Amino acid sequence: MGYQEAYDKLEKYGQLHVLKYYDELSGYEKEALLEQIENTDLAVLEQCRHKEELNPRGKITPINVMQLAEIECKREAYTKTGLEAVRAGKVGAVLLAGGMGTRLGSDAPKGVYNIGLTKEVFIFQRLVENLLEVVREAGAWIPLYVMTSDKNHAATTAFFEEKNYFGYRPDYVTFFMQDMAPAADYGGKVYMEEKWKMSTSPNGNGGWFLSMMKWGVTDKIREAGVEWLNVFAVDNVLQRIADPCFIGATIATDSAVGAKVVKKNAPDEKVGAICLEDGRPSIVEYYEMTEELMNATDEKGEPAYNFGVILNYLFRVKDLEEIVARKLPLHIVEKKIPYLDDNGMAVKPETPNGYKFEQLVLDMIHELDSCLPYEVVRNREFAPIKNKTGIDSVESARELCRENGIEL
Ligand code: UTP
Repeated sequence: MGYQEAYDKLEKYGQLHVLKYYDELSGYEKEALLEQIENTDLAVLEQCRHKEELNPRGKITPINVMQLAEIECKREAYTKTGLEAVRAGKVGAVLLAGGMGTRLGSDAPKGVYNIGLTKEVFIFQRLVENLLEVVREAGAWIPLYVMTSDKNHAATTAFFEEKNYFGYRPDYVTFFMQDMAPAADYGGKVYMEEKWKMSTSPNGNGGWFLSMMKWGVTDKIREAGVEWLNVFAVDNVLQRIADPCFIGATIATDSAVGAKVVKKNAPDEKVGAICLEDGRPSIVEYYEMTEELMNATDEKGEPAYNFGVILNYLFRVKDLEEIVARKLPLHIVEKKIPYLDDNGMAVKPETPNGYKFEQLVLDMIHELDSCLPYEVVRNREFAPIKNKTGIDSVESARELCRENGIEL
């Protein structure tokens, strides 16, 4: 993109300050800035001006959840179906590792965090070891696709190399990068991170399939005959990946997506609750739970919105291809954004100073016609690491690992 085109684009979105230092940049820096302006979706910045009207919700009603007792009765048959799908090469796993993990307070990718006490146990290692259990059970390798971002791609790939992929076969591991979104002040003006670079932040985990397309990974998937993708978060160290019983249940119920859920430990627990919204599968975020929804009961007198998602979904690829062109809702999140002040000095704020813009994988569920909420035993499969201490932390995850006989 040439200077004039960049100027016009910035002017259209009220962001001309991005060119403030243009004249003092080197040739290389000028090129980098023009390229960034070309590739950045500046339209999102306007959204923070009418943030409150962004994502209106429809009518929320309860959804049927496949609960533990029912799963136990059918475990053998589901497991058989799931293992057959794995052996036929129909299942791939997608690790979402593009997040910044800011709450954990480390600049490194979250997956390189060592949760070990007497030896090294990295988060990535725990996940790969869990996946390897299914590989061994099925006697077949499962392709693993790892999403990174501009901020952590090099560190993530180098770590996998250094650790010999934790015993996984490297030719079954593919990395791809998600897109970034501009980060802005409360008035919607993009911050500058350097004189030649706008501040950006990963654009949420909702763009994973689009990014796979962009990187040509979906072509590989098609060639390999992968029909199901198990998408999962980096931070749950008890995450069961490509779980044969879950795969079998999703296939047997002919669902477009399976969603692993756990019984919530309190009505206001900070997990999204699975539900129907205007009759379609959906998820209400914890901050959207009203008193009325928290106290609602179903026909058995049980809490009606009692199951939380744990970011472990099994998507049917052909359904993803149908919905990929649809725009997912935009979420605007307050954040600490490093920036250059009026004198061009770098500032690392201690408190939030603006917004980042994200699309979320959980919003894909509402785009699909059917979803199987599938209950798992909380203490066996859910040990998220969001913080250093307290709830959902390194400490609580260590305790859960210990409970599950995992040596740390
Ligand atoms: P979180 O919502 O916990 O975000 O991500 P985060 O960025 O990792 O952590 P904080 O909020 O800054 O502390 C849930 C999952 O989605 C992935 C994360 O890597 C994690 O597996 N994710 C999140 C992405 O892949 N890309 C994103 O842009 C955001």
